[in-house]
This record gives sequence, C-alpha cells and structure tokens, in this order.
Amino acid sequence: MKTCQSFFKTHINSRLINLIFISSSLGLILYLVFSSFSSFSTFSTLPSTRILLLGGDVFSSPTSLDHVVFGIASNAKAWPTRKEYVKMWWKPDKMRGCVFLDVGLNNNNNNNNDNNTVLSEDEILPPVCISDDTSRFRYTWRGGLRSAIRVARVVKETVALNHSNVRWFVFGDDDTVFFHENLVKTLSKYDHELPYFIGSNSESFIQNRFFSFSMAFGGAGFAISYPLAKTLAKVLDSCLERYHHLYGSDGRISSCLAELGVGITREPGFHQMDMSGDPFGVLAAHPMAPLVSLHHPDYLDPIFPKMTNRDAMRHLYKAAELDPHRILQQTVCYDRWFSWTISISWGYAVEVFGSHILLPDVLRVPATFRPWKKGGVLHTLFSFDMREHNKDPCRRPVAFHMNKTILEGDQTVSIYKIVEPANCTSNLGSPRGIEMIKVHAPKFNLDMKQLLAPRRQCCDVLPSSWHEKLEIGIRECHEDELIQMPH
Ligand SMILES: *[C@@H]1O[C@H](CO)[C@@H](O)[C@H](O)[C@H]1NC(C)=O
Ligand SMILES: *[C@@H]1O[C@H](CO)[C@@H](O)[C@H](O)[C@H]1NC(C)=O
Ligand SMILES: *[C@@H]1O[C@H](CO)[C@@H](O)[C@H](O)[C@H]1NC(C)=O
Ligand SMILES: *[C@@H]1O[C@H](CO)[C@@H](O)[C@H](O)[C@H]1NC(C)=O
Repeated sequence: MKTCQSFFKTHINSRLINLIFISSSLGLILYLVFSSFSSFSTFSTLPSTRILLLGGDVFSSPTSLDHVVFGIASNAKAWPTRKEYVKMWWKPDKMRGCVFLDVGLNNNNNNNNDNNTVLSEDEILPPVCISDDTSRFRYTWRGGLRSAIRVARVVKETVALNHSNVRWFVFGDDDTVFFHENLVKTLSKYDHELPYFIGSNSESFIQNRFFSFSMAFGGAGFAISYPLAKTLAKVLDSCLERYHHLYGSDGRISSCLAELGVGITREPGFHQMDMSGDPFGVLAAHPMAPLVSLHHPDYLDPIFPKMTNRDAMRHLYKAAELDPHRILQQTVCYDRWFSWTISISWGYAVEVFGSHILLPDVLRVPATFRPWKKGGVLHTLFSFDMREHNKDPCRRPVAFHMNKTILEGDQTVSIYKIVEPANCTSNLGSPRGIEMIKVHAPKFNLDMKQLLAPRRQCCDVLPSSWHEKLEIGIRECHEDELIQMPH
C-alpha cells in the first residue's frame, strides 16, 4: 500500500513530449497526414488529431490510455467487496491512478500470493492512496455524509499524484465500471488542452431536479482535461468552504467548475444508472454513443438473468473485450416472412417483436426498471423516450440474452438465447419459438467521422435463417438506405 502525498511538479509541456514522440515516428506522421487529408478532408481542424504543418502549433498524437489518470473514490469498509468490480476493468500495466480510501486497510494478508503462483491483488488492482484529513471543512447538509468532502478532494489529490504526460483525469466511484477503449475514444473527440468537464447527469428527472441538471453525476464517472484539473486543484479547497451546504462530492466539483466558468459537456455513454430493478431497457436501447461507464451494479438486478451481479457484469465484459466499440450499439431490421421486428443491442441482447414496429418506437427504452426511489409520479420520469413493458411476458417482445461471442478474423459472431422462457399458450409463428439468434458483424472500428457524426448501422435477416435459428448480418447502411418497415 502506498500513501499519496501532495507534491507539485514543474509541469512538463505535454506538447513538447508529443513533438519529440511524433518526430521520432515518421510513420505516424504519414498516417495522420493521410487520414486527415483522405477521410476527413472537409474538417480542417480536428480535435486532438490535428496537425498544423504551417502554424507550427501542435503536433498531437491520438489520445490513448497512456494519457489518462484515474481517481477512484472508495473507503476502507466498502473496498474489500467493491474491488471486485474495479478488477473487471482495471488494467494494472496500462492504467495510472489511485483508489482513495479514508483509512488504511488492515491487511491481514488475506491475499493468497504466498506461493508466487498467482498475481497478488496488489498487482492487479490500482494502488491505494489514503485521503488527506478533511475535518477542518464544514459539512452542513443534514443527514448527509461528510465523506463528500473527502471524495471531492480526490480530484485534487489525483492531480497531486504528479503523473507526467497526462491529458485527462477520470474520476469514478468504486462501483463505477469503465469501458476503457470507449472512454479513450470518447475523450479523443475533444482537445485536451482546452478546459473540458465531460460526463453526464442522471437518467432520473427527479434526481436532476433535486441535485442539478448541469452537474456531472459522480457515479457515472467524469473526465476533466489536464489544464482544467490543474486549475481546479488549486482553487478547490476555497470552493469546499463555500459549498458546505451541498449534499455530495459531485455537487461540490461542478459548483467549483461553474465558478471557473466551465459547464458540463454531456456524453451519453456515461451512465449514472439511477434506477432499480431490471436495467434491460436502458442497455437494450442504448444511445448511439460508445458505452463508457455503468454504475450501481449492486443496486440493480443482474444485467443477465440467472447470474450473480458480478458474473453478469463479467459476461458483458467478455463481449466488450471482443468488440468494445460495438458493445450495446443498437441495430434494427425487419423479417418479412414472419413480420417480425428485430432489435439488436450488440453483445447484450436481442428483442424480437411479433409484428412490424416503426423504427422510432423500437428505439424507445422499454420500461423494464423501477424508479431509483419510491415516491410520487415525478419519480417515474426519466430523461429519455420510453415504451411500455407489458406485465404479461406473453405480450412483450421476446428477449434473447447474449450467450457467447466469438471472433472470426475481423468478424464477430454473437449468439443470443432465451434465458427466461415465458409460459404462453402458443409459440406457433411467434418469436418465442426461436431457439437462437446468431449475429454476424464486422469488428467495429470507430473513426473520428463516426464519433463526430454517428450513424446507425443496418442489418439483414440472412437467407440461412430458419424459424428456430435466426441469422442476422450487421453492416453499414447504404447512403440513402432507410431502416424501414416493409409494407
Ligand atoms: C513530481 O514530478 C517531478 C518531476 O517529474 C519529480 O521530480 C517529483 O519527484 C514528483 N513528485 C512525486 C510526489 O511523485
Ligand atoms: C502455499 O504453500 C504452503 C506451504 O509452502 C501451502 O501450505 C499452501 O497451501 C500453499 N498455498 C497455495 C495457495 O497453494
Ligand atoms: C449458453 O447456452 C448453453 C446451451 O443452451 C447453456 O448451457 C449455457 O449456460 C449458456 N451460457 C450462458 C452464459 O448463458
Ligand atoms: C407454466 O404453466 C404450467 C401450467 O399452467 C405450470 O405448471 C408451470 O409451472 C408454469 N411454468 C412456469 C415457468 O411458470
């Protein structure tokens, strides 16, 4: 275990590092020149991949995980269980940062690394940092947790870790899981030398109404660009004095950033997951953006039925590792023969409707979950379009959950099956009779064009299908193709 201290270093200009890095790599220059002139010739200045040959301004290499430092907020009591989620996404040899605890762990060495056969937990988890004492700060939200101050200061203490070549600081809770390829892709859209505060607010209307619509909710995770984080770290303590009346850490951070004149840049791939029950709907009708984070895995039903919360999350990661950019991306196609509508959330689930449904209605989130907290009708309001989730499973679209995913060259094959069969009178001609759905897709490689102007892909029911085994191919849509219900 390592205790973190707050030292400030002389800031090495990251541009200089980039310059050295790139000039030693002619191949990369050629790549950047080629990609910026061929594929995106209409965008003369692309964030973070721009190269200004004449201005002599910036040579910027693409943003990668090497440029990110994480600050994870936990505490000594929760960490022994929550670390299981962090293990799912933390890459010890590729990621930098700390998990911040209130006090040290009583390491009775229950990590069985005695025989040098398995990696010890210290080797697969982020280093532990102990937060500074915050008892001098006031906390006046009645009934709240004053740990909010400590957690807000994770931002300052992560900056003080003094890592070099940092473009982004990313913060999350110990039950926030990140999809790092998508996190990096999403951040690469933005110029890390400008003051950015990137995240998303709650799905729950009442949570936003209560806390703020313009706050990045901490459980969803958020990112702060290097220069902004440096500035924030300097002034944060003075803000903490002023915002003693707020509830949480995220309110303190966004209030302080507001005072610095910076508002949130919303990215819909960050998920606070302020709901309870079955999150199926939110994952099955994901917005057209790479999945960056999920939160509250222990407060929701397991994302795959008949598994524990943890096994279910690990199962999702298996698909995400195969094709991170495509995970949860929704594609819709129509079966003419049986008049079905098929909605694929890649790597997670397929919904098959027994009739043809217009596309905008398919894209609505089925209300499979319950409000985060019990209360009046306001608690049932969410900030996305919803569709009914019938109480009677026989009157719902049929849900198939991902069974496995396989990589075949640069193609993926993902298989979906019914895990919870409904007890309905007849399956004849109904999608309930489908035994498995096999989806073929090219591995998705998000380029800057798709990140800046996302376009949904298309799919086809393949001729090899028969009633019990549906085969579907995902592909790019043609220029003028409509995802259209057959007549
Ligand atoms: C901070 O960075 C400087 C320069 O890289 C280094 O000399 C110093 O030891 C670092 N401090 C800590 C606490 O890591
Ligand atoms: C490690 O070795 C000791 C004896 O050297 C043995 O008692 C113990 O069971 C071993 N532990 C594991 C996890 O293999
Ligand atoms: C995949 O399907 C097989 C056969 O139906 C089943 O035994 C297995 O448990 C399924 N795996 C998952 C993860 O659902
Ligand atoms: C399905 O219905 C039959 C007959 O009503 C009943 O015996 C059986 O337990 C039901 N199965 C499930 C899974 O609900």
